[in-house]
Amino acid sequence: MKRLSLLITCVLLALFTFCQNKNFLFEGTPVFHGAKIVGNYPNTDFMFTIPATGDRPITFGADNLPVGLSLDPSSGIIKGKVGNAAEYKIKVSAQNTKGKAEEELKIVVGDNLCLTPAMGWNSWNVFTKNIDEKMLMEMADAMVANGMRDEGYQYINIDDFWHSDSRDSLGRPVPDAKKFPHGMKYVSDYMHSKGLKLGIYSCAGNMTCGRRFGGYTYEEIDAKSYAEWGIDLLKYDYCYAPPSQKVAVERYSKMGNALKHSGRSIVFSICEWGFRKPWLWTAKVGGHYSRSTPDIMDTWKFPSIFVYSTMAIINREEKLWKYAGPGHWNDPDMLIVGNYGKGNATSRDGIFKGMTDAEYRSHFSLWCMFSAPLLASCDLRKMNDATSTILTNPEILAIDQDELGEQAKPIYKLAGIRVYLKHLKDGSVAVAVLNTSKSTRKFDLKENLLGLSGTYAVHDVWQHADAGTLKDKISVTIQSHETMVFRISK
Ligand code: GLA
Repeated sequence: MKRLSLLITCVLLALFTFCQNKNFLFEGTPVFHGAKIVGNYPNTDFMFTIPATGDRPITFGADNLPVGLSLDPSSGIIKGKVGNAAEYKIKVSAQNTKGKAEEELKIVVGDNLCLTPAMGWNSWNVFTKNIDEKMLMEMADAMVANGMRDEGYQYINIDDFWHSDSRDSLGRPVPDAKKFPHGMKYVSDYMHSKGLKLGIYSCAGNMTCGRRFGGYTYEEIDAKSYAEWGIDLLKYDYCYAPPSQKVAVERYSKMGNALKHSGRSIVFSICEWGFRKPWLWTAKVGGHYSRSTPDIMDTWKFPSIFVYSTMAIINREEKLWKYAGPGHWNDPDMLIVGNYGKGNATSRDGIFKGMTDAEYRSHFSLWCMFSAPLLASCDLRKMNDATSTILTNPEILAIDQDELGEQAKPIYKLAGIRVYLKHLKDGSVAVAVLNTSKSTRKFDLKENLLGLSGTYAVHDVWQHADAGTLKDKISVTIQSHETMVFRISK
């Protein structure tokens, strides 16, 4: 009898563990994602949509909100203005018929933004100049419908070619009336009504890279207009501007200051392609992340030093691990996941044929390990399953959005295998193993390489499954150009 009950207990336990691993038991219950810490300037509009998946309707709650903020319980959007600079610890909750989730959200009212890397979408890689308000609003609808907003994506960023031919008689920027017949405020109101944010693009030269009017000498006027338009992020390029680092620092400081005094919390994205070591001065000029590389191309590798393939960018980015941190990230450029050689900008008229899903997975894995801004730049209205599975994998996104804000450090590079390690806020480590070779490889991930000793639980972030314990080592088999990512914890 005793034996039988022991057997039944064991079978039930095994079944429970299996179901838990496969998420059968918890399917549909609310789960939080995205940033757990959000920055905003004092006395400026604040908006944050609590990202959570789970069966709808969900009722959201937020205890201990500072004076000035309020929550809409049905959408999870927190809005308002806070005067006092301080760190506020909010207890957020999400409840549906399947259960309730609770966690802490920190709202830091102070002088920094972007305390975790920005997550959103940008028009450039896929559409270049073919943009208009209708398409942007459809992209926002798609981001809501396909679950990306619930995973923490927030920004819809307009890139180059939104401009009319010239500024108005007062020097203010004017959008192209054909592309934006209702003006920019109309577009930002739409984004905000969906709990999303709107980004725009300009340049520290007289002209943008696409030869539209630039921001040089118009910094205050532009920052004020952007604030009036309800803009939440500015990507600021460096075409038609002098090469020196000194001038770049001056010009970015000018715009950084203008944005800080615009009366709105506007994230400042620096884009001078890493030529003037921006990682050394991004925070100083009021920037929140800076491009560390020229434009990404939709190819894994390419035999020219002038082409920034995924591998060329990884080679460059991995050396910059020391410089990133909360509010000042390195930006290895927007994502090419899901473009399959069809993006207007990233295929260069058909020269670059795209990558395999394994390569897109590696690209995304490394960007998350590097704490990079995650700006999808494919057509969100037409994503295939592979693309949406990559962009919305909550476990890899949690590594990107981890509050500690470390950029992964390369700790091993030999015979086609590279290993990267990133410490996480809860004391666990994220480890990525990339196979750059043309064939399948076996590799022993040893505890002394990771600087760990003892018994650790290993979780496979792409398989969403436990992968045993790390005692001494675990042996892995990695396909060509694939990246395995593990979360290793005590
Ligand atoms: C530069 C930037 C790109 C894009 C284009 C727009 O090349 O690096 O990301 O913004 O300009 O013209």
